Amino acid sequence: MRDQAIREIATSTTQQELQEVRVKYLGKKGRLTQRLRELGNLPAEERRQLGREINAMKAELEQAISHRKHELQQSELRQKLEGERVDVTLPGVPFKAGGFHLLTHVINRLLDVFVSLGYDVVTGPELETDYYNFSALNFPDDHPARDEQDTFFTVDGRLLRTHTSPMQVRYMERHKPPFKIVVPGKVFRNEAVDATHEAMFHQLEALVVGEHITMADLKGAISEMATALIGSETKTRLQPSFFPFVEPGAEFAIWWENPRSGKEEWLELGGCGMVHPKVFEAVGYQDATGFAFGFGIERLALVSYGIPDIRYLYQSDLRVLKQFRGVL
Ligand code: DAH
Repeated sequence: MRDQAIREIATSTTQQELQEVRVKYLGKKGRLTQRLRELGNLPAEERRQLGREINAMKAELEQAISHRKHELQQSELRQKLEGERVDVTLPGVPFKAGGFHLLTHVINRLLDVFVSLGYDVVTGPELETDYYNFSALNFPDDHPARDEQDTFFTVDGRLLRTHTSPMQVRYMERHKPPFKIVVPGKVFRNEAVDATHEAMFHQLEALVVGEHITMADLKGAISEMATALIGSETKTRLQPSFFPFVEPGAEFAIWWENPRSGKEEWLELGGCGMVHPKVFEAVGYQDATGFAFGFGIERLALVSYGIPDIRYLYQSDLRVLKQFRGVL
């Protein structure tokens, strides 16, 4: 019985099975317990002799059970840990992170340049009045310059601004010179949409007003911007042009190496000039001097990144957007 019990203890594979073996031999009705109970029927001499043997065996079995129990606990724990094993050297599961839109990157980069030059960044309403968008900027009511900036009108006679220039007027109405500001924002035109024209696009406007501001300051500001964007090897060019709210007025271009073609060329960016006396008059400034410039941001983005069609920027096609995640 001893050998059999020892074997069963040693070969039990779960704590449950081991417990059953214990009950079988050492339980209330267990085989060994039974034997102990039967001792009473034996003569004293035999009873003592057998009693000692049975008690020794009981102790031995208990010890064997507790030993096996420990072993089983250990191996169950090992199995559990094995199941929960983590390979910390496995590569992580990448999660999908969003990113800024290419235009946001370009705008942020431009703003960084101007903030580092001491400009304040201000924004204004996209729904404008005729006054701020045109009249205060010295567009006479029937001037043909208005035709180039046809836009969308609301029934109450307001309009979606055609440029960021109205913020020049709004800002000056509420501030006294000297100041330097840049105005990023959306503008709208009634355009026949094609690869280079959208009905909505973005501009950056700059306005600097103070004492004795000259064309040299304007040229300097444009060069600073070009240098920051492109590098010190760039140069800038002004070419006479007309905008009602500046006099003299010009178009400006920056010299750069087109990263797509590898060719060096002029990049026509936008308009600029010295703030027209009529504009200062409209905001009640006397003896002020200042310059302004403004340009389209999409154009800069398209040529910088070789994007063939402006509409790609607004189709929210991830195949396009992902290519520019984290650029700049
Ligand atoms: N607002 C003009 C446009 O949208 C661009 C412009 C020209 C802005 C001359 C200026 C400027 O500040 O001085 O076509």
